[in-house]
Amino acid sequence: MTDLFDFHKQKRCFAVVGHPVAHSKSPQIHEDFARQCGVSLSYEAIALDPGAFEQGVRNIRAGGIAGANVTVPFKQAAWRLADKLTDRAQLAQAVNTLSFSAGDVIHGDNTDGVGLMRDIQKNLGFSCAGARVLVVGAGGAARGIFQPLLDSSPGELVIANRTLSRARELLAAFASPIGSTVCNLEDLSSTAFDLVINATAASLMGEVPDLPNGIFANGALAYDLAYADQPTPFMRWAMDAGAVRAVDGLGMLVEQAAESFWIWHQHRPQTAPVISALRSGSR
Ligand code: ATR
Repeated sequence: MTDLFDFHKQKRCFAVVGHPVAHSKSPQIHEDFARQCGVSLSYEAIALDPGAFEQGVRNIRAGGIAGANVTVPFKQAAWRLADKLTDRAQLAQAVNTLSFSAGDVIHGDNTDGVGLMRDIQKNLGFSCAGARVLVVGAGGAARGIFQPLLDSSPGELVIANRTLSRARELLAAFASPIGSTVCNLEDLSSTAFDLVINATAASLMGEVPDLPNGIFANGALAYDLAYADQPTPFMRWAMDAGAVRAVDGLGMLVEQAAESFWIWHQHRPQTAPVISALRSGSR
């Protein structure tokens, strides 16, 4: 019989699934967390066929994977696949953390929103309470961060999207979002914001949303959910357009990973050294 000590030391296997996924930093991040916390694990990046996500998940599970992070383009497919969802995953209609327990039940959670808020409020020291906040974009990424933003008590929360109907749909999905409004990108010209979050897919295509100048208030923070080795096109545009700080989503990536790590291992790793190592390129 395996004694209790050996059981806890057994190496459990995890993965990030996406398409493409080879570039993912999640394996490095989870391995760093594991070293910090004395957890024994393996973590790999697995590309799944976009046409066969469900079968792909069943295959990795049968192969012994205990949990998986889910990235583009599968977060909504993972939400549909999960048997049990946390409230935040249900609201986001997207899952980035799957846990496979004994039996057939697949648990789905979404740690993106909490990851963003920890990066903005804890790491960057920006308080959302009372702030005028603009979310640009109304797709899955915007949906995943909307409730935590509402919970942070902003003075004003505006969703601007190229396609206005999608912004309206997003807002309608949330219960009594007091102080929240929607508009087109071009309607933003008369308002200034303290925090502007780019939740569009534009950076992934090397583009910048067609935003008017003048949307940044004094001291404003520009935050791109995308991350890259170089400043993203949105970050460069934001600095030219008057933002005081422009950051990418690397901190959010590490923070959402820390929350997934907590779900799987019940350890809270320190995120600051991992963010620094990734930023300096030493990992
Ligand atoms: P994701 O899950 O990454 O959010 P998505 O659901 O396809 O992806 O949504 C992409 C978002 O980026 C949408 O808000 C989209 O605007 P539309 O709804 O008008 O299509 C936005 N987007 C993508 N490219 C953009 C661009 N070049 N300029 C402005 N918005 C863009």
